[in-house]
Order: sequence, then C-alpha cells, then structure tokens
Amino acid sequence: MADTIVAANWKMHKTTGQAIEFACGLKDVLFKKPVSATVVIAPPFTSIEALGVEFKDSGIFLAAQNMHEASHGAYTGEISGKMLTAAGCRYCILGHSERRRIFGEGNALINAKIIAALTCGLMPIFCIGETLAERESGAMFTVLTGQLKEGLNKVTVDDIQKIIVAYEPVWAIGTGKTAATGQIQEAHLFIRNLLSEMYGTTAAAAISIIYGGSVTPANIGSLMAEKEINGVLVGSASLDLGSFLEIIYFQ
Ligand code: 13P
Repeated sequence: MADTIVAANWKMHKTTGQAIEFACGLKDVLFKKPVSATVVIAPPFTSIEALGVEFKDSGIFLAAQNMHEASHGAYTGEISGKMLTAAGCRYCILGHSERRRIFGEGNALINAKIIAALTCGLMPIFCIGETLAERESGAMFTVLTGQLKEGLNKVTVDDIQKIIVAYEPVWAIGTGKTAATGQIQEAHLFIRNLLSEMYGTTAAAAISIIYGGSVTPANIGSLMAEKEINGVLVGSASLDLGSFLEIIYFQ
C-alpha cells in the first residue's frame, strides 16, 4: 500500500532563522501528538543543514527543491545530490513546473536528475502536470504520458519504489484554484495505470501519488478522503506553521 505523505515546498521563502523557528514549533507539536503521515519539509538550500540538525531523529524528513545531475565538478552555483544527503536530505523535489517553465528544464534533464538522485540515495518527489492550455486542448493525457515515460527512462522496478509522484496541474499552483477532486482522481488513476503498464500492478500500487496545487486547511479533508490521493505537496499554505499544522492534522 502507498504511504501517505504531507510535504511542504517552501520555494524561495524563509531565512534560516525563520526556518529554524518553524522547525522547532513543528517538532514540539509533532512530539506531543504524532501523525501517521510522513511529514516532509523542503526549505531553500541555505536552511537544509540547520534543519537537518533540528529534525535529526524527529521523524520529520527533509527534501531539497532541486539538485544538479552531476555528482561534482565545475558547475558554479549548483548543488549535488551527495551534498544534499550529507546535509540530511532524504528526498529531492524534481520536475516542478516552476523549474520546467522558468528554468527551461525538460523531461530529459529531469530524468538525468532522477537517476542521479537515486544513485546517491535520495528519493525523488517527481512532479508532473499539465497547463490549462494543454488540458483545454485535450493534450493532458499525452503530456502526462510524456512527462512520466521520459522522466522515468531507465528507472528500474526496484528504484520506482523510492519515487513519489506528485501530480501538480500547473493551473492550480499558486492560483487559489484547487483542481476538483474528480479531476485529480481521474489524473491519479491515469498515472497509476500507466505506472502499472510500465512496472506491473504490484509495484504501481505501492507508489505514493500525491497532489499539489492550492492545498489549504479548508480543502485538505475532501482531498484526503479520495482513495487515489496519497498525500499532498503544499506551497503557500505550508509557510505558516498554524496553517501547515491544520493540514497535517486533517482528520
Ligand atoms: P501552492 O500550494 O502555493 O499552490 O503551490 C503548490 C506547489 O507548487 C507545491 O509544489
């Protein structure tokens, strides 16, 4: 069975001081009242090391928001997967639509990053999703198929178990427009069927497929009530501790 994941993507928000303050508060609450979901925080690179110390043995896990596909070398301004695991990361978000759209990352590069992450023991949170224009023109399933198949090129059946797939329709990110649960259910079923074709039904059933796009305390209950939604990737509503706690304790 797929694990339930609640992940915070802080994007380019919070100084290290602000990140530590949040982390201490989160740790205190979770210590007193544990949750069954796996809680993951993806801070900016500058806070990873400090939160690695805060979260050690806390049951809260760290993710990076990006990495370079090479193990090391002359890549000014870049960070390798090995550096991230050494700093305490367990996961790395890859293929986020902001990386695809703003930084021009395509499926082949994302695939190289996924392979590099797996090689150094990082679990990819692999984001896919269609734009509004793609949905409206009927290209949504073709787009999702291309992102999945090309992004997972050469990923083995053993390694697919280490990947979380995040369905994030681009039109629902930061817009306040959550996708309807029926739309998410449809996309998640499509993704799981495709993963079944690629890796077999047993392997596909164990993969967590999570949803991202304007998740809030107000809609988390209805999202998590859907059988095919194995968790959420939260942007804006994860920045405030109170709001993130409401999402974690959705039941
Ligand atoms: P919002 O929750 O702000 O829509 O962002 C979603 C997202 O991009 C998570 O990766």
